[in-house]
Amino acid sequence: MSSILAEHSPVAEDPRAAAPAPKKKRARSILSVIVNGREREDVVPDGMLLLDYLREVVGLTGTKQGCDGGECGACTVLVDDKPRLSCSTLAAQMEGRRVETVEGLAHGGKMSVLQQAFHEKLGAQCGYCTPGMITTAEALLRRNPDPSRDEIKAALGGNLCRCTGYVKIIESVETAAAARKVTP
Ligand code: FES
Ligand code: FES
Repeated sequence: MSSILAEHSPVAEDPRAAAPAPKKKRARSILSVIVNGREREDVVPDGMLLLDYLREVVGLTGTKQGCDGGECGACTVLVDDKPRLSCSTLAAQMEGRRVETVEGLAHGGKMSVLQQAFHEKLGAQCGYCTPGMITTAEALLRRNPDPSRDEIKAALGGNLCRCTGYVKIIESVETAAAARKVTP
């Protein structure tokens, strides 16, 4: 009998054991950054990726995620004129930096010479790799306005395209380099 009572009697539980574990607060910081020429201040979680910050906080969805991280180049943006993988960069690292996305390369609602060249030379098919291709090529043309074909290939070596086979992409960059001598 005593064993039956023991089985069915309410057991006094330690309330600390039943209580849900207190949620850990995610640390957040205020990020001051220039995105596409505009100064911004946003509260961001310390672990937030630059890719997610640009897409979800700033609302710039041109920057794409194409892989699990660090392999395809689709997420490339410019940071202080240099190409950088936004999927492998924390937003918090951008404090005081200048970030440019593919959207920021257009001027007054018009495509840039480089963007126009990709359009005209069929450097894009599905377009998923295109933002990363364009930002990487833009960085190349800023530091080397007249690149050789080999220099273009080397610069775009970290950007993968599953559609075009690269010839059209390289031709697009060459066309843009020639056109920028006339119209920067
Ligand atoms: S999404 Fe960044 S390298 Fe692929
Ligand atoms: S155009 Fe489709 S992945 Fe490059």
